[in-house]
Amino acid sequence: MAETTSTSRGNWNSKLGFILAAAGSAVGLGNIWRFPTEVASNGGGAFLLIYLLCCFAIGFPVMVAELSIGRKTNRNPVGAFKALSSNKLYPLIGFWGVLCGVMILSFYTVVAGWTFSYVFEEILFFTGFTEWATLFADVTHGVKNAIFSVLFMGATVSIILGGVSDGIERATKFLMPVLIGILLIMIGYVAFQPGAGIGFAEYLKPDFSMISAPLIFSAMGQAFFSLSLGMGALITYGSYLSKKENIPEAAAYVTLADVGIAFLAGLLIMPAMYMAESFGVDIFNDAGELLASTDLIFQVLPALFHSLSTTAGIIFGTGFFLLLSMAALTSTISLLEVPTSYVIDEFNIQRKKAATMIGGGILIISLIISFDIALIDSIDFIFSTVGLPLGGFLICYFLGYVWKVENAFEELEQGYHGLHTSLFKTIWPIFIKYIAPLAILYNLLEAIGLITYIQELF
Ligand code: PHE
Repeated sequence: MAETTSTSRGNWNSKLGFILAAAGSAVGLGNIWRFPTEVASNGGGAFLLIYLLCCFAIGFPVMVAELSIGRKTNRNPVGAFKALSSNKLYPLIGFWGVLCGVMILSFYTVVAGWTFSYVFEEILFFTGFTEWATLFADVTHGVKNAIFSVLFMGATVSIILGGVSDGIERATKFLMPVLIGILLIMIGYVAFQPGAGIGFAEYLKPDFSMISAPLIFSAMGQAFFSLSLGMGALITYGSYLSKKENIPEAAAYVTLADVGIAFLAGLLIMPAMYMAESFGVDIFNDAGELLASTDLIFQVLPALFHSLSTTAGIIFGTGFFLLLSMAALTSTISLLEVPTSYVIDEFNIQRKKAATMIGGGILIISLIISFDIALIDSIDFIFSTVGLPLGGFLICYFLGYVWKVENAFEELEQGYHGLHTSLFKTIWPIFIKYIAPLAILYNLLEAIGLITYIQELF
């Protein structure tokens, strides 16, 4: 393995390799399954606007924070907090992150398994094996879900076994560009189909009357989930980053890549829904709302693909679900790398043993979820929508008030020589110490009803 670091933990071979790996972590089911769903159920453009604001005003500053903590300490999320403070409480922030990672990966594997089983569903459908296709399409089929979860976790573990540069970096360097290519071709195709115009309008025209506390809360949770923030994935990835690299610049690329791909996914899915409607597919539920979540990606889109000619259908149908599987894989890699690096660093266990043990343990939870998919929504809510912003809040607090911005600057300066004369230096501390943590806290309190309670008191 081509290691270039002084430690034996592994290191990224190149700047591009790191950016693609971090963007690969960010871009995943979050962009293509979760984001369009949230957009569709939260008033289209209004949600998009708040989401973008959350990504740039909260997500980007937190990403710089995570990467600098990781690179400074060269450690996993738990070890990183141990290294920066002698107070025994702070490593709990890292523990919370590892726990969120484990729980998110457990349901993510099942959903990723669906995307992969749909690759087969499309092939079977177009080759005339419709009964088999129906089986592969059944998201409630426990045994099928379990088999695909095993396959997906197997693929994830095998990449993690390869280590940082030979495993993660090599896989994402190939997968990311292919993914963007397939996405662009599909948008190009859908854009000129009947109904697409309505979808574009719904997506891009904000209806400001839709902006509400729950919408802002969902948008914030989505920003954290999509950027892989709040659980230490980027502390871990930052720990393999060379001192030569400019962290704020790299974080800006990763944020832009993630937001860009989410935006593109919306440009594909929203028009595709209305295109499907023009083909007679039902895209609204009984309450007149746009279909969302699992129904959107796993019912509306296949219905759309099935209405195409065999050649177009097989290309776009399998292409789309392959794309989704690849995007998911580059994210599951990062989710598994967090607990794996924790066990490697803190318990001195070899990478192979650590990855297999943890992957196997998480798979057990995935198997339970395979047979009871209703669990997904609650786990997602607790560990993503609430858990990640909570982690983000604690990271901001730690950096701003415990480790201190000045120390972070010392770390950031390496690789960012213009730091001291930059606008970044003036603005970032304001966001990390005040704007991001207060915005997160307000939203969390609002979500549990505390703000309304306090308002009623007065
Ligand atoms: N960002 C990934 C996605 O959008 C999910 C993820 C969350 C990955 C947290 C790592 C950490 O699908």
